[in-house]
Amino acid sequence: MDNTTSELAASIRSIPDYPKPGIIFRDITTLLGNPRAFRRAVDELVQPYAGTKIDKIAGMEARGFILGGAVAHQLSSGFVPIRKKGKLPHDTVRIAYSLEYGVDEMEMHRDAIEPGEKVILVDDLIATGGTAVGATKLLRQIGAEVVGACFVIDLPDLGGRRKLEELGVSVHTLVEFSGH
Ligand code: PRP
Ligand code: MG
Repeated sequence: MDNTTSELAASIRSIPDYPKPGIIFRDITTLLGNPRAFRRAVDELVQPYAGTKIDKIAGMEARGFILGGAVAHQLSSGFVPIRKKGKLPHDTVRIAYSLEYGVDEMEMHRDAIEPGEKVILVDDLIATGGTAVGATKLLRQIGAEVVGACFVIDLPDLGGRRKLEELGVSVHTLVEFSGH
């Protein structure tokens, strides 16, 4: 780990046995509350896309909104919220997806992205990949070109990164934690 990576990793709080025994919850609220770590995380997330025209950042509710908004601002891109079902007021597209702890549905406004627009997915963490795979399929349904996905945290043992790469999405992550 270089200095940036170890500083970011140290700013993330690990909570054992949450939300259930045997799971270590990786809590980014401590990173977000640390001005230097938050700035570094956003700078590192945007790094592969500097100089590329990205039309929209898609952020997944809820933690993806915080990082995705900051990334969109830094890249001068638009921001599109991908929300849990029933929250968006206009015409939506919806998809079921699997989570580490269950299943849910997510949706976005049908007119949020024009066909062919270049989109980057942003979230705090990729675990099983269920959320990011669902979001990729939803974006492709409305004709978006998903040019990449970035996450602060990768849990490689859960295989999400590989699933997303198998869909042809290039994945950028900052910190890895083994185990859950
Ligand atoms: C967490 C995390 C990612 C997702 C990763 O969100 O913020 O979005 O799980 O897991 P996956 O790769 O196995 O899909 P969660 O659904 O717990 O909700 P939140 O962001 O609203 O807290
Ligand atoms: Mg989330």
